[in-house]
Amino acid sequence: MATAQKLKQVHVINHPMIQHKLTIMRQKDTSTGKFRQLLREISMLLGYEVMRDLPMTTQKIQTPVCEMEAPVLSDKEMVFVSIMRAGQGILDGMLRLVPSACVGHIGLYREPKTLVAVEYYFKVPKDIKERDAIVLDPMLATGHSAVAAIDRLKETHPKNIKFVALLCSPEGIEYFHEYHPDVPIYTAAIDQKLNEKGYIVPGLGDAGDRLFGTA
Ligand code: URA
Repeated sequence: MATAQKLKQVHVINHPMIQHKLTIMRQKDTSTGKFRQLLREISMLLGYEVMRDLPMTTQKIQTPVCEMEAPVLSDKEMVFVSIMRAGQGILDGMLRLVPSACVGHIGLYREPKTLVAVEYYFKVPKDIKERDAIVLDPMLATGHSAVAAIDRLKETHPKNIKFVALLCSPEGIEYFHEYHPDVPIYTAAIDQKLNEKGYIVPGLGDAGDRLFGTA
């Protein structure tokens, strides 16, 4: 059970490199290729912060000068879980940091009238109970998809869950933590609000469309 101070954590990673790249992503004339490249780069930078508390151990190695006990990541495994389809953009960056990580996928679409999330695909590693899950979705907007994804993921009992979103709305954070106060959120920015269509304002538009050139 998470302790009180560990509940409802939101980590805004406002490093100048992330903020600069995010500003370029937000601009409507930024090309698909550039958008994709920037999302990958920001995801790597977010990844460093998200994985800051990964457990370490040491390994005896030989440098050209002498032997030493050097730090290495312990065997504890993780799984990246991409909420399709826009999660793929963050996944790309995370896998550059940890190429050996397992990947799960959750397919959800927003029912256009109600904005409610409907599941169409779910696949995670069989040994997920032994893994830490890092869930990826660029936009925490209404929070419906994120809550549905975490609801479903919790049924498989990963050891621990973190949620990574490039951008969040205040409404999305509130909704998310109403249902999953134990899941920390890592993000590059919290924007002003949601509009009546469920888009983040000022936001960057539809992340999936911008990532895949389907606008
Ligand atoms: N999904 C997006 O891609 N963009 C938003 O602004 C909200 C949800």
